[in-house]
Amino acid sequence: MRIAVLGTGMVGRALSGKLAALGHETWLGTRDVAASLANTEAARDGTGTFAEWHERNPQVQVATFAEAAGNAEVVFNATAGTASLDALKLSGEENLAGKLLVDVANPLDFSKGMPPSLSVCNTDSLAEQIQGAFPAAKVVKTLNTVTAHLMVDAGQLAQGEHTMFVAGNDGDAKATVTEILREGFGWKNVLDLGDLTAARGMEMYLPLWLSMMMQGVKSPMFNVAVVT
Ligand SMILES: NC(=O)c1ccc[n+]([C@@H]2O[C@H](COP(=O)([O-])OP(=O)(O)OC[C@H]3O[C@@H](n4cnc5c(N)ncnc54)[C@H](OP(=O)(O)O)[C@@H]3O)[C@@H](O)[C@H]2O)c1
Repeated sequence: MRIAVLGTGMVGRALSGKLAALGHETWLGTRDVAASLANTEAARDGTGTFAEWHERNPQVQVATFAEAAGNAEVVFNATAGTASLDALKLSGEENLAGKLLVDVANPLDFSKGMPPSLSVCNTDSLAEQIQGAFPAAKVVKTLNTVTAHLMVDAGQLAQGEHTMFVAGNDGDAKATVTEILREGFGWKNVLDLGDLTAARGMEMYLPLWLSMMMQGVKSPMFNVAVVT
């Protein structure tokens, strides 16, 4: 498939690197290609500067948000949640129309420090705002409940017996995403939560995730399993 991953952070890097390694024609989108490649700030996941990461992943083509989305059949939103609507506007509504738009972002507002608050919650979600702003896209929410490297390699945790959620209004779009999750990223347990309103709960899980990461587990490398 031709896939665009919008976002140069640790999530965009993990997703695009894995999708390219799986044989997909993969673009990574950013606001300004030259500025991203010149950025001397190293990512906190040990992948270095963006230029260093790209040197190790030359099969991922770096482009503007609009070029990346325009080239793709499937688009992943891996941009900062409070900027996702702006990033997707820069991608161009026409470049998202009719396409599967996989939203992995969290609406975390760090403006008042740690822990962040949610910029949207309860009766709305970032995923629904994206669907509302881009009605011709088929938005599917997934992967926002685990850390970047676990997204693309579920087998890093014991036996992969832990749960990934999906939500979205289009059944075929969810089926395509579920296939990528199972066949590409190693997720054995994919739980369909129904339509996109379920993204509210998936995003509101983040305060609990942060408590586990900062206090309980003291590492981002964990997940929950739904058992009955
Ligand atoms: N980090 C994790 O393990 C993790 C796990 C689950 C979900 N998430 C979610 O995944 C998303 C990506 O997280 P991340 O840590 O990889 O990166 P991030 O630092 O949250 O986001 C980086 C991306 O956001 C874009 N961006 C920032 N401000 C923007 C603006 N004003 N307008 C347009 N684009 C803007 C940047 O564009 P440029 O490339 O142009 O700089 C960059 O591509 C976030 O929503 C996060 O909550 C993260």
